[in-house]
Amino acid sequence: MITISKDGKIITLHTASTTYQMAVGPYDYLLHVYYGPRVESDMSYIISYVDRSHSPNPYEADYNKTFSLDTLPQEYPCYGNGDFRNHAVRIQNHDQSYGICLKYKSAKVLDGKYSLPGMPAVYANEKAQTLEVILEDAVSNLEVTLLYGVMEECDVITRAVKIRNRSSVSVRLEKAASCSFDMLYGSYDLICFHGRHGMERIPERDSVTKGKRVLESRRGTSSHHMNPFFILAQEETTETHGECYGFSLLYSGNFKAEVEQDQVGLIRCMMGLHDECFSWKLQPGEEFTTPEAAMSYSREGLEKLSHNYHRLIRHHVCRGPYKTTRRPVLINNWEATYFDFTGEKILNIAKQAAELGVEMLVLDDGWFGKRNGEKAGLGDWYVNEEKLGGTLAELSEGIHTMGMKFGLWIEPEMVNEDSDLYRAHPDWAFTIPRRKPNRGRYQLVLDFSRKEVVDYIFEQISFVGERSGVDYIKMDMNRNLTDIYSVGAQQQNQGVILHKYVLGVYDFLERMLARFPDILIEGCSGGGGRFDAGMLYYTPQIWCSDNTDAIDRTRIQHGTSFGYPISAVGSHVSAVPNHQTGRITNIQTRAVVAMAGSFGYELDLNLITDDEKELVKAQIKDYIRYWDMIQNGSYYRLTDPQVNREIAAWAFVAEDRSEALLNVVTLDAHCNAPIQYVRLRGLDPQAVYSMEGTEKKYSGAALMYAGIQVPELGGQYQAWQVRFYVER
Ligand code: DGJ
Repeated sequence: MITISKDGKIITLHTASTTYQMAVGPYDYLLHVYYGPRVESDMSYIISYVDRSHSPNPYEADYNKTFSLDTLPQEYPCYGNGDFRNHAVRIQNHDQSYGICLKYKSAKVLDGKYSLPGMPAVYANEKAQTLEVILEDAVSNLEVTLLYGVMEECDVITRAVKIRNRSSVSVRLEKAASCSFDMLYGSYDLICFHGRHGMERIPERDSVTKGKRVLESRRGTSSHHMNPFFILAQEETTETHGECYGFSLLYSGNFKAEVEQDQVGLIRCMMGLHDECFSWKLQPGEEFTTPEAAMSYSREGLEKLSHNYHRLIRHHVCRGPYKTTRRPVLINNWEATYFDFTGEKILNIAKQAAELGVEMLVLDDGWFGKRNGEKAGLGDWYVNEEKLGGTLAELSEGIHTMGMKFGLWIEPEMVNEDSDLYRAHPDWAFTIPRRKPNRGRYQLVLDFSRKEVVDYIFEQISFVGERSGVDYIKMDMNRNLTDIYSVGAQQQNQGVILHKYVLGVYDFLERMLARFPDILIEGCSGGGGRFDAGMLYYTPQIWCSDNTDAIDRTRIQHGTSFGYPISAVGSHVSAVPNHQTGRITNIQTRAVVAMAGSFGYELDLNLITDDEKELVKAQIKDYIRYWDMIQNGSYYRLTDPQVNREIAAWAFVAEDRSEALLNVVTLDAHCNAPIQYVRLRGLDPQAVYSMEGTEKKYSGAALMYAGIQVPELGGQYQAWQVRFYVER
C-alpha cells in the first residue's frame, strides 16, 4: 500500500511487514526517511539538520548552514549539487558542464506494477501498486521519474528510473543508478557473492567501514566474478535473527553496486548499470530507462530475506509453462562426449537413460557447422548431418520415439573466425578499428547491439528449432566482452553499446519465447557466468556452474541460494573422477546434491555399474516424488559449508509444512568423531512427523529445537537424504 500525506510531503510504501518512507524536505529536495519494519507514522523527525564544516549549502538555503545535501539522506542523489558522497545520476549538460539539481515536482500512485519495455521487470499477478515520483532540474529541463513497485506479499520494493530530456538541446547521461538508499546510522556488514569460473557466488562478509566499496562487473555480462546481488546485514544478523537488506539487479550486463559510509556513519548504497564506458546521448524529447532493482528487508535474518527473493523470482520474475510445473529430468551429453559424438552415440546414451527413467535428452555443443572442437563453427547454425548421420529432425524423432523430450544447445551471441558467418560478415563481431580483437575460447562476440545481427541469428536458430521439434533450449555464452566498438552506432555514440548489447540479448530471448512458447529455455554462460534475476525473466533456470563436483557444488549452491530460488539452479549428476576436480564421490551423494536444483544427469549411463543403474532409477523416482517440495517449497540452509567443514546440510519444506526433505553430505571424516546434529526449521512445531522408511516419529518442535543426529554415514563425501511427513 502506498500513501501520500495530506500535505503531500510524506510518501510511504508499505509491504506486508516493511515500510519505506521518503519526505519532501526543505526547498523541495526529496529526502529518504526510513526503510525497515512496518511503522504507520511520519518518521521525518529522524532527519537532523546539522552544520558541518566543509559541507556546502545550496544557494536557496540562504545563509542556513544547517542545510546541506552533503549530510542529508536522499532518495536519488545527483552529481554536482554539493553532495560529495556517491551520486546516483551524473549528467553532462549541453554546455559541457557537469551537474544537475533535482527537486521534487509531483507524485502519483498507480494500480498494478509498472513494466519496463524491452527489459526484464518484476510483474504482479496479485495486489501491487506503483509509485511514480517526478523530480526535475529546472535549469536543464531534465525530468527524472523514480518508479517504485510495491510487492506486498514478498516484502519487496522494486525500483527503476526514467530520465527524460525536456529541453531543446541534447545532454549526455553518464551515470544512472537504478536505486539508491541511505541509512542514517548503524553497524552493518556487506555480504557479496564473488567467484570465478567453476566456483561462482561464494558469500563473503565484511564490515562496512568508512570509504567506498564497489562490487561490479565490467565484463559485459553479470559475470562469474561478482553477482549483481548483495546484502547489508547488521553485524549481529545470522541466518535466523537480525536485520538485513537485499539488493538484486534484474540485469545481465555490466553493473556497479556501491556501498559507502560517510564522515558521520551514514551508509549510502546504490546499484545499477556500470558507468564505465557508458555515455547515453539524450536528444530533446528522448528518455532513458534504467534496469530494475529489487530491494527487500528482513528482521528475521538472512533466511527470511532469501525466502522473499525466492518467492519474488519464482512467482513474479520467471515466466512460461515451466514456472511452477515440474521440469523434465534430463540427460546432457556434454561431459559424456564433449565434441566427440555421432547421432548413433547420442541415441545410445538416450536409450540407456530412457530405460532408467530420464525424460529428456539435451544435445549439447557440436551439432552444427564444422563444430568438432572449440575453434570452428560458431555462427553457422545449420545442422552437421554428416556428423549426426542424418537430419536433426530424425535424431529428435528417434529421441521422441523413446518417450523422451529433446533439447538443443545454442550459443547465439558468438562466432568463430573459422565460420561461414564470420567470412561473410567480419564486421558483425566486436572489433576496434585498426586493432585485432581479443579472442576468448577462440571465439569473438557478435554485435548484438545491431538489430540486423540479432535478426539473422534469430532466424537461423529458430529455423533449426522449428524443424527439429525441440522441447528445450540451453542458451550458452562462453566468453566476456572486449573490443567494444559497433560499426552500427554513430562514431560519437559508442558509450551506448554495452547496454544495447544486453537489450539485443533480451530481444533475442523475447522473440524465442514468442516463437516457442511451450519450450523451456535454460540459461548458461560457461556455467553460472550470467546468473542474475534479469536472465531468469527469460530462462527460468540457469546452469549453475561448469563445476559438477558434488562437494564444490554444496558451496556453490549454498551461495547461490541467498538471492535465487532452487528452481533457478540447473544441477546434474556427472561421472567420477569428476572432470573438474578429480574427486570421487558416490552416485548417491552426487544425486542428493544435484536434487538441490533442476535435476539431471551429465554422463554416459551405459558406463555405470548395474547397481548404480538401480540407484539412478530410484533417484529419478525420488526426485519426481519430491519435486514440488524442492521446486515450490521453502529452502533452508542448515549449515554454512564455508564455516562447518564437517557436514553440509539443507532442507526443503513443503508450503503447507506437511513434509520436509533433509539432506546432509559429509565433507570431512575423522577417527572417533563427535556426533553431528542438525536442527530443521520451518516445520509445524505441533505436528508429528514420521521419518520415512522407519517407525520413528518426532514432533516438529523436537526436530527444530532439539535437532536430530546425523547417522554414521561411513566417512567422507557420503550423503543422507530423509523425508519427514505428517501422516494424514
Ligand atoms: C559451457 C557450458 O557451461 C557447458 O555446460 C557446455 O555447454 C559447454 N559450454 C559447451 O561448449
